[in-house]
Amino acid sequence: AMLDKNGYDHYMLKEIHEQPQAVAQTINGRLDLELGKINIDNYGISNINLKEIDRIQIIACGTSFYAGSLARYFIEKFTKIPVEVELASESRYRTSTVNSRTLSIAVSQSGETIDTLQAIKFSKENGAQTLAIVNVPGSTIAHNCHDESLIYAGPEVGVASTKAFSAQVSSLIILGLALAQEQKKLSSEKITECIDELVKVPSLLEKTLTLSSYIEKISKKFYKASSILFIGRGQQWFVAMEGALKLKELSYIHAEGYAAGELKHGPIALIDENLWVVCLAPKDSYYEKTISNIEEIRARGGKILSVGTEGDEDLKSISDEFIGVVECSEIILPFLTAVPMHLLSYWIAVKKGTDVDQPRNLAKSVTVE
Ligand code: G6P
Repeated sequence: AMLDKNGYDHYMLKEIHEQPQAVAQTINGRLDLELGKINIDNYGISNINLKEIDRIQIIACGTSFYAGSLARYFIEKFTKIPVEVELASESRYRTSTVNSRTLSIAVSQSGETIDTLQAIKFSKENGAQTLAIVNVPGSTIAHNCHDESLIYAGPEVGVASTKAFSAQVSSLIILGLALAQEQKKLSSEKITECIDELVKVPSLLEKTLTLSSYIEKISKKFYKASSILFIGRGQQWFVAMEGALKLKELSYIHAEGYAAGELKHGPIALIDENLWVVCLAPKDSYYEKTISNIEEIRARGGKILSVGTEGDEDLKSISDEFIGVVECSEIILPFLTAVPMHLLSYWIAVKKGTDVDQPRNLAKSVTVE
């Protein structure tokens, strides 16, 4: 590729480290800090009437699908509008149930993924309002939607998406706030509060990235594993899904992401003293429940790498390895816990000697079915 690696060994590592900048560029100009308002025009919405939306459908593939799945929690919380997150390759073959009050959102870094393109076209044909949230300007998906909102993450070269993920999540949070503002679902005080949290993300990401050398060190323990399980609840479920996806893509180690509460319905049978489980358990509203899941794993001899809140001695004491992120609000948390997911798979892949920027069988943008 034509871009410089800027001193990093791989584009992926460079892009992981560009996350603070990527999120800053996504939110730039869209949050009015003085008035505590979302600037909807700067967000890219001009044709769609947000006041009329009573249902949301997010359509995506791969990492973009996990960004959408994670953001769903925030959009529903802010707006009380039901949100469905659909895999593009599935939604386009189902019976369409959208109408003119449905907002269908295509989330795609490249804006060229064929399944996402076909699925959003299908929703548009069936009468939905369509919005493209993309990184590459002038993309085919954007051309086919009523409105286009760029995430401005900057060019992403590594096949495994990293900075685009964080930028997509921040973009969808802004959209959720914009909907809440237009439909008067949140007070301006509440919107201001959320904006104040969002603007902290870049600097807290910066801080979290300093974990890289520590994660490099502990990655030695995992690179020979044949399988790793990732668990979490709520937003952290999708951070776990993203962690497992990245590990498979980069290191070719089998990995599975699971909702922690579903462990007892299957994956708990896999647990023995040879299995590492990456447990996402920061201090959020699901914390107590996740801790009891970790105790169940521990009681069965499973090895635990937990990702939690810095200084959480209780969690540390039931873990074999612990990675801590700074204490912060629920809006910020998933941004921070995603960083160790990206770094862990990166460093494991480097130890294994796989092709980090161009893993076998994968493509940056998939334009064939
Ligand atoms: C490919 C890439 C992934 C990406 C997915 C969706 O599988 O390897 O990194 O998440 O496509 O791509 P998009 O450009 O639509 O976000």
